[in-house]
Amino acid sequence: MKALVYHGPGRKTWEEVPDAAIQEPTDVVVRVDTTTICGTDLHILQGDVAAVTDGRILGHEAVGTVTEVGDAVTGFRAGDRVLVPAITKCGRCAYCQRGMPSHCQTVGGIGWIFGHLIDGTQAETVRVPYADTSLYGVPDSVTNEQAIFLADSLPTGYEVGVLAGQVRPGDTVAVVGAGAVGLSAILTTGLWGASKVIAIDTNKFRLEKALEFGATDAVEVGPGTVAEVIALTDGLGVDVSIEAVGYPETLLTAASLVRPGGSIANIGVHGTPVELPMQDMWIQNVRLTMGLVDTVSIPTLLKMVASGRIPAEKMGTHSFTFDQMDEAYDVFKHAAANSALKVVITPS
Ligand SMILES: NC(=O)c1ccc[n+]([C@@H]2O[C@H](COP(=O)([O-])OP(=O)(O)OC[C@H]3O[C@@H](n4cnc5c(N)ncnc54)[C@H](O)[C@@H]3O)[C@@H](O)[C@H]2O)c1
Ligand SMILES: [Zn+2]
Ligand SMILES: [Zn+2]
Repeated sequence: MKALVYHGPGRKTWEEVPDAAIQEPTDVVVRVDTTTICGTDLHILQGDVAAVTDGRILGHEAVGTVTEVGDAVTGFRAGDRVLVPAITKCGRCAYCQRGMPSHCQTVGGIGWIFGHLIDGTQAETVRVPYADTSLYGVPDSVTNEQAIFLADSLPTGYEVGVLAGQVRPGDTVAVVGAGAVGLSAILTTGLWGASKVIAIDTNKFRLEKALEFGATDAVEVGPGTVAEVIALTDGLGVDVSIEAVGYPETLLTAASLVRPGGSIANIGVHGTPVELPMQDMWIQNVRLTMGLVDTVSIPTLLKMVASGRIPAEKMGTHSFTFDQMDEAYDVFKHAAANSALKVVITPS
């Protein structure tokens, strides 16, 4: 089969490799019908993720068809259309039982293993460990182009942003960063009845998208950003401030938008320490949450996509075939210049 193989910082090739095969009785093999690229894949290619070594097949998101089933698998059969999520879970360890498979001890101490600790989904076929507890069947009414965004970005925006921030009916919400993850938070904030959703970004195209995705207001980053957002909330500050970029300055912006008693939900992956003004924050009774996505909201999100409440397909702006993998990476890497959000990659 062919797959996208990592060969050290800055080097990847779409090349011939051995077919994915069952190794454990709890595995299945999935033929990849749709995959996509995540910002984390770009980080890996910059050499930021030391655990990813030469020879690793990249990718941690897929929708596909089961082709082979291990002897111990009871929930899936060859021919089933499935969603392969970013997080793999045994379902039994202490973290899985607490609903936190992001830290599944059995699969590797961290639930994100595809394209990280084991071969990933940017390939013609992929081996899926712990299939019974990790895979999700995709309902007929949900297309591959919708389901693919439930593998990572939609659950991330929803779980680490909206749910962790505890958005409640009538709340005002700010989302700093309207990339795929920020937009996923915007798209799912409505499920909890937010009265106002304010998108904040440096990029005009992303702000236009945010309004399409359900934001009520869009604020372009500038010297007056904080004052502008505070003015939109009658001078109070927002109930929930979601950070979806991953820079010190954007977390500081998110923190300065929240009202006393509100929540700051950090989704961004930070590569450097962030200095927070705790001397001002402590007396504000604010909460600050953060974390790696668990993807446990996938069943809920699948139902909302199936019923038309979440138009997940809006996330895909560009389509490519497997043999255009390099082009797909180029467009995604320069997403802003290409008016791109997420790319959809299919065999042909
Ligand atoms: N916690 C998790 O489990 C998890 C999972 C996936 C992704 N992430 C992280 O979430 C973050 C967002 O991911 P993404 O895929 O949407 O990234 P992205 O690059 O597509 O989007 C980031 C957005 O932030 C905007 N931006 C850049 N600088 C800004 C600034 N100074 N102020 C306001 N906006 C600014 C960009 O224009 C862009 O629209 C990343 O840090 C990513 O690593 C976290
Ligand atoms: Zn990802
Ligand atoms: Zn586990």
